[in-house]
Amino acid sequence: MIIYKTNEEVEQMRQSALLVSKTLSEVAKLLKPGITTLSLDKMIGEFVKDHNAVPSFLNYRGYPYNSCLSVNDVVVHGIPNNNPLKEGDIVSIDIGVILNGWHGDHAYTFAIGEPADDVKQLIRVTKESLYKGIEKAMAGNRVGDISFAIQEHTEKKHGYGVVRELVGHGLGRNLHEDPQVPNFGKRGNGPKMKEGLVLAIEPMINLGKKDVYTENDGWTVRTKDGKPSVHFEHDVCVRKYKADILSDYSIIEAAEKANVNLFSNHT
Ligand code: MF3
Ligand code: CO
Repeated sequence: MIIYKTNEEVEQMRQSALLVSKTLSEVAKLLKPGITTLSLDKMIGEFVKDHNAVPSFLNYRGYPYNSCLSVNDVVVHGIPNNNPLKEGDIVSIDIGVILNGWHGDHAYTFAIGEPADDVKQLIRVTKESLYKGIEKAMAGNRVGDISFAIQEHTEKKHGYGVVRELVGHGLGRNLHEDPQVPNFGKRGNGPKMKEGLVLAIEPMINLGKKDVYTENDGWTVRTKDGKPSVHFEHDVCVRKYKADILSDYSIIEAAEKANVNLFSNHT
């Protein structure tokens, strides 16, 4: 069952999404070789609680941490640990919050220093594909139009692997609502979208093949071929002529740039 949100509810959800964006931009400032994903997860939990919200992933189906930090060949649901990040690593940081009863859930993939050129391109193309999907999130279109746009740009145009096992989703008072939003599919297929539908659109794109497996910890999803994977996620509200993007990458990108400049001044 699809639950449509009123304008007032959408404004509350924007606050939830923006709190995730702010948290991601704070984390961006801390990223450098040597930092552990566990220390980042602690900071994320504290920042969210300091802003009158609850980290929604904690205890979700027994998940034991505040956030998912997925390094290199980890696609999503990476469990924070004590391994230091290294120069050239990439890390997807996925954060969920509940603020005033409404979920925010979005993610961004960061580079630590300079990854290889093919990995940098994967990051750029995956982010582009997210926006190409969002362009289709308007009233009268179908969910498959979003899926098709993402798959076209990543798989067809660039030959990347589109993960099949995990999908985007509706968002609201629950973390996962209808409809599912696959990152692959046919134009004109799936449920028709109306104004007030809030979606978390989240391409998970592999440099190599599409195949993934889940580790014995029950969470960590990795690529089978061991090649890197990138994940970006925005929260958007379907509107008449174009989607309203509730989360905000501009503050994350600004923090990311400032951090990179800081590095180069010191080397
Ligand atoms: N953002 C993810 C999703 O949309 C992560 C949720 S898994 C959790 O499904 F267990 F960590 F919460
Ligand atoms: Co999500």
